Amino acid sequence: MTPSPPGGSPVESATWWRVGRSYRAPLLVRQFPPEVPFGFLGRILPTNESLELSVEAHRIPQTNALQLLHGARAVTEAELAVGGNGGQTAELEVERASAEELGREVARRTQELWKVGIRFVALAPTRPHVEAKRARLSERLSAIGFRPRVPRYEVRETLRPPDLAVAESRPSGYWHTLPTDGLAALFPFGDETLLEPDGVLLGLALSDASPVFVNRWSHASHSWGIFGTTGSGKSFAAALLLLRTRWLRPDTSVAILDPLGEFSTLVEALGGSVIRVADGVGGRLNPLDPVTTRGDLREKAARVGTMLRALFPSLRDEETAELDAAVTQLYERGPQVPTLRDLRDRVVERTGPSTRLATLLDVFRSGSLQTLDGPTTARPTESIVSVDFQGVPDDQLAFHLTYVLDWAYGRLADRAGGKILLVDEAHLLARHASTEEFLDRVVRHVRHFEAGVMVLSQSPDDFLTRPTGRSLLRNLYATAFLRLPEVSSETRTFFGLTNAEAEWLPRARLPRETGYSESLWRVGELHLPLAIVASTPEYEFLGATLGRPRVSDEGPPAPPKRGL
Ligand SMILES: Nc1ncnc2c1ncn2[C@@H]1O[C@H](COP(=O)(O)OP(=O)(O)OP(=O)(O)O)[C@@H](O)[C@H]1O
Ligand SMILES: [Mg+2]
Repeated sequence: MTPSPPGGSPVESATWWRVGRSYRAPLLVRQFPPEVPFGFLGRILPTNESLELSVEAHRIPQTNALQLLHGARAVTEAELAVGGNGGQTAELEVERASAEELGREVARRTQELWKVGIRFVALAPTRPHVEAKRARLSERLSAIGFRPRVPRYEVRETLRPPDLAVAESRPSGYWHTLPTDGLAALFPFGDETLLEPDGVLLGLALSDASPVFVNRWSHASHSWGIFGTTGSGKSFAAALLLLRTRWLRPDTSVAILDPLGEFSTLVEALGGSVIRVADGVGGRLNPLDPVTTRGDLREKAARVGTMLRALFPSLRDEETAELDAAVTQLYERGPQVPTLRDLRDRVVERTGPSTRLATLLDVFRSGSLQTLDGPTTARPTESIVSVDFQGVPDDQLAFHLTYVLDWAYGRLADRAGGKILLVDEAHLLARHASTEEFLDRVVRHVRHFEAGVMVLSQSPDDFLTRPTGRSLLRNLYATAFLRLPEVSSETRTFFGLTNAEAEWLPRARLPRETGYSESLWRVGELHLPLAIVASTPEYEFLGATLGRPRVSDEGPPAPPKRGL
């Protein structure tokens, strides 16, 4: 029963209902399109217009549902038999196939049938307003394939509140029979936005600019990945997320493995310290120091084996075995904190000075790596540290990255509070099976001490060739794809990307075109197309501090034009 309203008694016309200065103009739906996207109602019911939507659903018992579907199929078949009812054969074939398919699903109970009552009502203080509003809604519905209908002389019956106990009789266009999927698509807030408490802003939905917040610390894995072609904005996005994380949790420790030296100025601007591997600025990290495994010598010996294999990929099996034996002996016999020269001496002692292995290890005594020979002198106490590998020869990068990863891992395990380890150009570690396996292990284990890894690389394909790489990818809770020149079928399958997503990624716009990055985020099960947008202060700060040290003096590049 409608309570007696303050504005006087209701007035009913052919197409609207009025109480005082409140007009209500209902709209029903004669026919649904064959398919609707999930959450479509959120888009056709704008938040700046007062419109009412009511949806009531009554489950149809399975036997009745099967009978209904059987009946529908029989009708379609009869129409097909008489020549397709005016040339609609193709449509009827589709109807028959979908009735058949639905019948199977209902029988298997993967879907059910529902009797669904649906009613839109435009609300406005005047008659022209309410009619204009209803007309606009009707156009929006028609545009996506609905056939709307204004109930004439049936307004009262349409507006009657639902009786949830029974599906009572209503004007035509009110009741529809829908499968579970169709009913779910009517849920008006089904668009896939994500607002996790205490999360950082990942970006704005490309469809409607709604913000997406994700809290790294509230999921089992705190590790994320960012993939994209050169210039797509990976380093920028990672730096932006680090800044936002530290604003929310200023005690978050950060360690950055920075092969191209892009983060040094930023880290210094944040009061952190930088270790430059190529020239030793910031101090030395002794790759053999067992402090990184908290004195676990067996584990340390295994990691040393990994780093040496990355440095000498041409080692033969017997040389690898000899080297492993020398490393094990070194940790058994001491010194307590050996240096690289001690390792070389151990090998010479075991094999003589003129073996190929001994000659290779000369690089630590008199070659390009002799600056690494000695105790650790870099002991940064700052909460943010980066290791800059700029100037390191390409064939030594994987080696340097590995012992620094070992060091950073030890440092994460030692510190209290949330920690993030950023590994830029991570494909360098995917070049060798053993270094990839080490990175995978780090990603899997850091969660135990409140740490997450940010893995940045150009293509997910770099990690899809071996089981360890795939394990690493599986352990990233969130994965962002910025522009990818192509999306391999392996990537498509592994990440469950739709064809539309895979076709879009090579066209995702670059920050130099738009002033922000277009991206597709995979967060848990959700796929979210987002614009990674920096606020003006963030943009200015990162613009001034992030990027490769310029060798030429062309001056700073002009900032790109920005705007969504
Ligand atoms: N979200 C963004 N908003 C505004 N500018 C951006 C954004 N992302 C990147 N940029 C700008 O675009 C340029 C390229 O970005 P960035 O260096 O982060 O790319 P990258 O993917 O790390 O490339 P590479 O693989 O070469 O390291 C930089 O000048 C950066 O300032
Ligand atoms: Mg980069």
